[in-house]
Amino acid sequence: MDLTAFFTMTSGLYVISAEADGQKAGCVINTAVQVTATPPRISVAVNKENVTAGVIAKAGAFTVTAIDQTADMPYIGNFGFRTSADYDKFEKYGCETSAVGSPYSPQHVCALFACNLVETVDVGTHFLFIGDVVDAERLSSEEPLTYGYYHAVLKGKTPPKASSYQG
Ligand SMILES: Cc1cc2nc3c(=O)[nH]c(=O)nc-3n(C[C@H](O)[C@H](O)[C@H](O)COP(=O)(O)O)c2cc1C
Repeated sequence: MDLTAFFTMTSGLYVISAEADGQKAGCVINTAVQVTATPPRISVAVNKENVTAGVIAKAGAFTVTAIDQTADMPYIGNFGFRTSADYDKFEKYGCETSAVGSPYSPQHVCALFACNLVETVDVGTHFLFIGDVVDAERLSSEEPLTYGYYHAVLKGKTPPKASSYQG
């Protein structure tokens, strides 16, 4: 099997976030996809070991922001390579609250989707969370950051808990 075939699957990069019992959590994902239009629904795959997965399950809601091309590696590092277990990822880039009560940082993102969790599918290492989008907003006119741009221009790496990791 040629695993490099997976490199042809294009996607954007996003921060998914939630808050429950006073615990804020968020992480970078490349797995946000619109799955239906009526009602508008998106799915996301989040590793079971990511703190964010447990907080989304408890909150029953999550918010996805689309990272834009103004993002740099320190920003990706903050949300994609650190854990929310003992660190507030939203301190550094500002913290606002979405329509479903999730914290999100308004910097370096061009759109927001606030979702109520409607279904959780156990797909092995990850949970597939499916959410009803109850609020969508354009936050800037910057171009969204694609996974291809992340590799080619930012020379970014993929950590082990990402769905797209190849060891
Ligand atoms: C480019 C990139 C893509 C990623 N994609 C995913 C993904 O689709 N799903 C996922 O669960 N983690 C993904 N990750 C990993 C999480 O962002 C990372 O494990 C994070 O530190 C988890 O934080 P938490 O423990 O606070 O939830 C990705 C990270 C990067 C940098």
